[in-house]
Amino acid sequence: MTRTLPFPSPEPLQPESGHEARIHADHLIAPHGGELVNLLADPERAAELKAESRDWPSWDLSARQYCDLELLLNGGFSPLRGYMGRADHDAVCERMRLADGTLWPIPITLDVPRQLADRLSGRSLALRDPEGVMLAALHVDELWEPDLAASAQAVFGTIDRKHPGVAHLVERTHPVFVGGRLEGLQLPIHYDFRSLRLTPAELRAEFAREGWRRVVAFQTRNPMHRAHCELTMRAAKEAQASLLIHPTVGMTKPGDLDHYTRVRCYQAVLERYPQHTVKLALLPLAMRMGGPREALLHAILRKNHGCTHFIVGRDHAGPGKDSQGKPFYGPYDAQELLRRHETELGVKMVPFQQLVYVEDLDAYYPQDEVPAGKRTLDISGTELRQRLTEGRDLPGWFTFPEVAKELRRTHPPRHQQGFTMFLTGLSGAGKSTIASVLLVKFMETGGRPVTLLDGDIVRKNLSSELNFSKEHRDINIRRIGFVAAEITKNGGIAICAPIAPYDSVRREVRSMIEPGGGFVLIHVATPLLVCEERDRKGLYAKARAGLIKEFTGISDPYEEPADADLVIDASVLSPEEAAQEILLYLEREGYVGASMVAQ
Ligand code: PPS
Repeated sequence: MTRTLPFPSPEPLQPESGHEARIHADHLIAPHGGELVNLLADPERAAELKAESRDWPSWDLSARQYCDLELLLNGGFSPLRGYMGRADHDAVCERMRLADGTLWPIPITLDVPRQLADRLSGRSLALRDPEGVMLAALHVDELWEPDLAASAQAVFGTIDRKHPGVAHLVERTHPVFVGGRLEGLQLPIHYDFRSLRLTPAELRAEFAREGWRRVVAFQTRNPMHRAHCELTMRAAKEAQASLLIHPTVGMTKPGDLDHYTRVRCYQAVLERYPQHTVKLALLPLAMRMGGPREALLHAILRKNHGCTHFIVGRDHAGPGKDSQGKPFYGPYDAQELLRRHETELGVKMVPFQQLVYVEDLDAYYPQDEVPAGKRTLDISGTELRQRLTEGRDLPGWFTFPEVAKELRRTHPPRHQQGFTMFLTGLSGAGKSTIASVLLVKFMETGGRPVTLLDGDIVRKNLSSELNFSKEHRDINIRRIGFVAAEITKNGGIAICAPIAPYDSVRREVRSMIEPGGGFVLIHVATPLLVCEERDRKGLYAKARAGLIKEFTGISDPYEEPADADLVIDASVLSPEEAAQEILLYLEREGYVGASMVAQ
């Protein structure tokens, strides 16, 4: 790369007329709403709150809530001073504004279970991290039960659960929202990449110290390849601005590359930019994959961090395809929405078409500027994953050698990775027997450690206190998912064989496991009639007689998976034959070497 970046423009930014002052005391762009919020209490008040909190109820924040709290406390979400109450929530959903009219695209709320909500009226709540450390006091103003599907429709424009933001809202959000003012005791603690975790105030101080007044921010949740470098360099040149590479490291789209690897890639890529023109900082945002509305939130966040410009490319914060296989949003919807609000926001958008590589010219071009008749090359995210999984080459025109090396380190080919085989089906379908055959086959081969998490075994050892209600079955499956995810990410093979009758928790387990390795869902689809006829444990007879309640298939539902990778009917295959079918599938998909499969 031979392009050079201009140094920050010496010309000062002029205050513009608008609904708020555009220039802050630090000579940078004014935060959203005019003031950079800092919700951290001084040490004296913090000690007081901690002492008072002895009698308060507590709430251990989820990973997502932890991210939101950090951005509330450190002013990333300025002008918010706590979790939204109903008026703000509804106004944001309906009009993309807070109740006072300030532009705001996505509700920032705290959800809790009813049992806790019942004890909260008129009180304060201690918000704690997963280890129980108190991070903040929430002074509760309001408790209400939102219509989550209606919020999803308003914010994301859909209630299709293939949308990760919708799935979270509808399937994994507690029913009661708690609105109120926050006082922070301390920011969430991070031990990784500490020097890169800069709060809005810290970033602003760095910009001010270095004389950066025009700063263009680049949001990303992916590793940066040549096209991203090219795009950011062009954007900085166009905006006559310095560049902030500001990747999201809170929560991104399920299945994304872990942030440790990504940050190592960003650090490697920094060397490719001219000195003094680029900075890397990490943003602890939990993405909603909300497309256009999320792009607006991203721009507000960057404004609060002192950036004057924001890059919006193709399909910004895109959630992928819906259950009909169609994209949820148009590729440039986010740019359109941002353009409409650019003046009010005070942040200038730097829009980009997708950049593609033009082979003959050995250069990157925006898709709509490719000279006629020239062949273009591109590697999609899916193809990249495929190449890594299969251990294939990553071409030099696509990425830098240092990035390719990092990606290879975390993406060994599939046959060296851990994976989970998740067998689901009715009681007596043959899951356990097939799982036992598979266990033995993998033990015979050796190499990766294998663990069997059979339904009955788990019920004895991990879940002995649980019954067969939907709630308890889901807890049981989540526990299995948790253990299998740990095994998988550490390179082992987990064979799970519970009934797992509910679709949503099976999908949840898939999303827990896939970031760390493979997940294969096998539906052991032996018909109910056959299972009942065999009745190896005599449970069907008892269930018919009403002696066992909530028995799957008889008096309780079984939701057939629509996302099974493999369907096996054990009424027409012996356990060995079924196991062989599974091994052949694993071989086809690259999870095992050909030597495992009987010829
Ligand atoms: S679940 O739904 O996944 O939590 O069920 P799981 O833990 O796999 O069930 C383990 C075994 O419990 C026996 N059993 C029942 N199954 C279904 N419904 C009811 N009410 C019930 N009560 C006991 C049953 O033998 C399950 O084992 P398998 O191997 O599937 O027959």
